[in-house]
Amino acid sequence: MTRPVRIAPSILSADFARLGEEVRAIDAAGADWIHIDVMDGHFVPNISIGPAVVKALRPHTAKPFDVHLMISPVDAYLDAFAEAGADTITVHPEAGPHVHRTIQHVKALGKRAGVVLNPATPAKMLDYLIDMVDLVLVMSVNPGFGGQHFIDSQLRKIAAIRKMIDSTGGAIDLEVDGGIDPDTARRAIDAGADALVAGTATFRGGPDCYAANIRALRGD
Ligand code: DX5
Ligand code: ZN
Repeated sequence: MTRPVRIAPSILSADFARLGEEVRAIDAAGADWIHIDVMDGHFVPNISIGPAVVKALRPHTAKPFDVHLMISPVDAYLDAFAEAGADTITVHPEAGPHVHRTIQHVKALGKRAGVVLNPATPAKMLDYLIDMVDLVLVMSVNPGFGGQHFIDSQLRKIAAIRKMIDSTGGAIDLEVDGGIDPDTARRAIDAGADALVAGTATFRGGPDCYAANIRALRGD
């Protein structure tokens, strides 16, 4: 079975001095979603983007904002990212005491809710969340930085989660984040992924290369 694959460039690899232009360029180059990595220097060892930047980028594209929150505690910031223009808000279970409540909160804000599993977090974590999420994000690197190597053991997890999703019959996106290039993209898709985050592999070579880079990730 072939399912359409969505490509979500991570703007962590964009030129931060020209972020609006970069978002317009990846939109024009065929990005399906804009992946925004939010890091607090506490939950992960890096600091990136806050709600004010998300809000400033909102007028630059109509494509969905896929907001990946790597902040702890996360609950106090959900409203701000929803108001800033997030379409999907994805949270780590380790980022607060009650991930079920956090997901309820995202849904109550009228946003798509995602849960993200770190490389060491088992698929089993999803047992009592799968019926309430719109998206599962599998980290194929430890969160915090772009440009890391894909961790092969996550392919088994992707396959296990694909089975879980298919058995629920629900329309849940299965996204993979970290170390995605045309080769690992193919392996992640074969394991069952239907959405791919790519920072380095999208932005490599500058704006003239974005469209070809995105096509290569789709396997076109
Ligand atoms: C890592 C982030 C990723 C990162 C991916 O914490 O969640 O989205 O930007 O970067 P690449 O594609 O370079 O591995
Ligand atoms: Zn991410």
